[in-house]
Amino acid sequence: MSDIPLESALVPPAPQLLAAMARRRSVPPAALSAPAPSHEQLRHMLALALRVPDHGLREPWRFVVIDGEARAELGRGLAPLYRVANPQMDEAKREKFAGIMERLFLASPMAVVVISRPDRNCAIPVFEQELSAGAVCMNLLHAAQASGFGAMWVTGWAATNPAAATLIGAREGEKIAGIVHLGTAASVPPERPRPDAEALTSFWTPSI
Ligand SMILES: Cc1cc2nc3c(=O)[nH]c(=O)nc-3n(C[C@H](O)[C@H](O)[C@H](O)COP(=O)(O)O)c2cc1C
Repeated sequence: MSDIPLESALVPPAPQLLAAMARRRSVPPAALSAPAPSHEQLRHMLALALRVPDHGLREPWRFVVIDGEARAELGRGLAPLYRVANPQMDEAKREKFAGIMERLFLASPMAVVVISRPDRNCAIPVFEQELSAGAVCMNLLHAAQASGFGAMWVTGWAATNPAAATLIGAREGEKIAGIVHLGTAASVPPERPRPDAEALTSFWTPSI
């Protein structure tokens, strides 16, 4: 992985890391094709993704990986849940979206679901534990891109509807922080305008 001993507290300047961060962008699932990361590559990426700040060391996250045949099987379970959850919807519209749910995980060769599982019986605020789960998603995007793969962090109905989230693997008290689609980028989307850090930053003064 690296020649630098893990005990070494100081990481030397890493211009390549900065360059990769400056170029990071999402690749939509439709542009992600095979090959998916191997399970060996995935293990490495997930280990890097977990190197996040974690107040109180609660480990308030875990992963569910969806690949291969599981993608279609999960979709076959999600479609009927969508129909049940939307009884009032116009039938044609409902069928269209149920179909989208059925094909959700077929869009990319692999998805990693990042599950937020805050410990509610400790002093660390749930919000902070949820932020840590978001940091895992972000780290996974960087690890994927730096490993030569495309990735995109999505949520949507399947992540937020309780029955769908349960089918995907969320347990009582857990939430889906993100579904991170992974694969080989067949094309790279055009760059989008990026926020202006200067306009979004102020330096504190007494009159702020
Ligand atoms: C928590 C979260 C959920 C998101 N869910 C979706 C989603 O369901 N669908 C979508 O198109 N983009 C979603 N996005 C946005 C994309 O991940 C991505 O940021 C966006 O396409 C812009 O691309 P970029 O990452 O290159 O800036 C989500 C982002 C976050 C942080």
